[in-house]
Amino acid sequence: METRKVYLDHSATTPVAGEVLEAMTPYFTDMPGNPNSLHRWGREARRGVDEARENVASLIGADAREIVFTGCGSASDNLAIKGAVWADKTGRKHIITSAVEHHAVMDTFKWLGRSGYDVTFLPADEFGMIRPEALRDAIRGDTLLVSVMHANNEVGTINPIEELGAICRERGALFHTDAVQTAGHIPIDVSNLPVDMLTMSAHKMYGPKGIGALYIRRGIKLVPLVHGGGQEYGIRSGTENTAEIVGFGASAILAKKLFEAGEESRVSGLRDKLLDGIESRIPDTFVTGHRTRRLPFHGSVCVKLIEGEGMLLRMDYAGIGVSSGSACTSGSLEPSHVLLAMGLDHATAHGSVRLTLGRDTTDEDIDYVLEKFPPIVEILRKMSPYKGG
Ligand SMILES: Cc1ncc(COP(=O)(O)O)c(C=O)c1O
Repeated sequence: METRKVYLDHSATTPVAGEVLEAMTPYFTDMPGNPNSLHRWGREARRGVDEARENVASLIGADAREIVFTGCGSASDNLAIKGAVWADKTGRKHIITSAVEHHAVMDTFKWLGRSGYDVTFLPADEFGMIRPEALRDAIRGDTLLVSVMHANNEVGTINPIEELGAICRERGALFHTDAVQTAGHIPIDVSNLPVDMLTMSAHKMYGPKGIGALYIRRGIKLVPLVHGGGQEYGIRSGTENTAEIVGFGASAILAKKLFEAGEESRVSGLRDKLLDGIESRIPDTFVTGHRTRRLPFHGSVCVKLIEGEGMLLRMDYAGIGVSSGSACTSGSLEPSHVLLAMGLDHATAHGSVRLTLGRDTTDEDIDYVLEKFPPIVEILRKMSPYKGG
């Protein structure tokens, strides 16, 4: 039987938009130049990279000279954090991040902690938000760097980065934010934000996988992690991934157009219908993360008494793609560090499901999910070892 297919895992990755693919394709075939070559093929490729840099910069209100292309969002996070820490000449050893970061930030800080840096992990509140008061309490005279994500990938909560960055400015610490989930989805203007470095990744905004960018405010010095031919202003050597960089630029143009066309409110309307529908149709279920200060396309819930993996697999069988909150990256069954940091107990955290909508999600898709999800939960609850407890 052919089932309907509803992809609701856009926080994990998005499809490459048609316009993006069209912009990239010639750079794989008819325009094969290395942007560092002096001949016409090289100059053509260089033009593609330069234009893309302008477009990515313009999406976040930056200057093109402040954008460095990297291999992915994780590479940008590593470059920002290690690059800033190693470039320091003041001898400061205290660095701060939060308890709910993506592993690209979290594990980098843990690793630096094992290499002699003094790391503070800021607590999150019940919505997964990092409160400015928590940073005020933790920041010190010897704090070198603070990294707090713009919005959380698991629960969608948007952090008050204006206030967090302002505290860093006041105290002379650098501020980095991982904007992988927000760039291209909500407006960002670094010209009005106290942010020194900001991470982006194309595949979360309808661009290709394996290309990231780091905004580095003019004047900030980073130590490169990759030495070589001196590309990307010497900060990230390696022949530019021309086609993907061009794709990133095209995805930035498209994202801007869609802001203007009201995509944010269209998708958040559908998301609210989904979350309200789940809460009203499935007992003992609640939304995780902040209800209003959240990414417009992001839904996440905890369904009590059952496990996220069971729901994910049955939803998959019904043609619906969602993700569970467990640490699926490591294949372990540890519940998500984000949900635990928000104060949920292990059993409840195991019942988490993330449903993230996209540009193609329709009203009918949401009706379909609301029809299929409740009976799946009912069956799993009948089989649940927790029932009757
Ligand atoms: C918040 C956040 N940061 C970083 C990353 C890593 O990005 P990439 O997959 O491009 O390395 C992700 C991807 O899931 C993310 O959600």
